[in-house]
Amino acid sequence: MTVRDILSIGHPTLRTPAAAVPVAEIVGERVQGIVDDLIDTMHHANGAGLAANQIGETDRIVVLEVNGNPRYPYKPPIPLTVAINPELEVLDDETVVINEGCLSVPLRGDVVRSVNLRVRYLDRHGIENRVEARGLTAGTWQHECDHLDGILITDRADPATLSTWDEFERHHRDAFIERISKFTELVGS
Ligand code: NI
Repeated sequence: MTVRDILSIGHPTLRTPAAAVPVAEIVGERVQGIVDDLIDTMHHANGAGLAANQIGETDRIVVLEVNGNPRYPYKPPIPLTVAINPELEVLDDETVVINEGCLSVPLRGDVVRSVNLRVRYLDRHGIENRVEARGLTAGTWQHECDHLDGILITDRADPATLSTWDEFERHHRDAFIERISKFTELVGS
């Protein structure tokens, strides 16, 4: 298990669509090593999620976990999840604007996300899982799966809302948290 360097916007691997992991390779040393490194690196950086592209690997693997995360104190908890070859199905037209950050991008910005998703993925043992995700948790899934397609928040964000973390804290955080807390109370997680 190794804390890896996280690639920053501009690195070509962040723009490379990741390849599906052959099921027979999931329990192998290479894939298990990537999974362990993703978890370690996400924890070290206090991320809510991390995709393989961000540590320089072009395999369709993401990890997610929210548990009192200091980067995103308003996010509902997500248990540690390893998702291999994840597939998202948008269940309806409901959307929400979420102000997102990313460990590979030094800015935050407002992104429109679907609110109701069904997610199918294989876990690190190769077992198929299906979960329904709502609200901010659905947003986290969409963010991480975007990475696997080479998409970053700067591609989706309203450019006029882009902000450094410092300026976000200073000028936008309170209004965003008030709006998103009301939304989270309504939809749950
Ligand atoms: Ni990201």
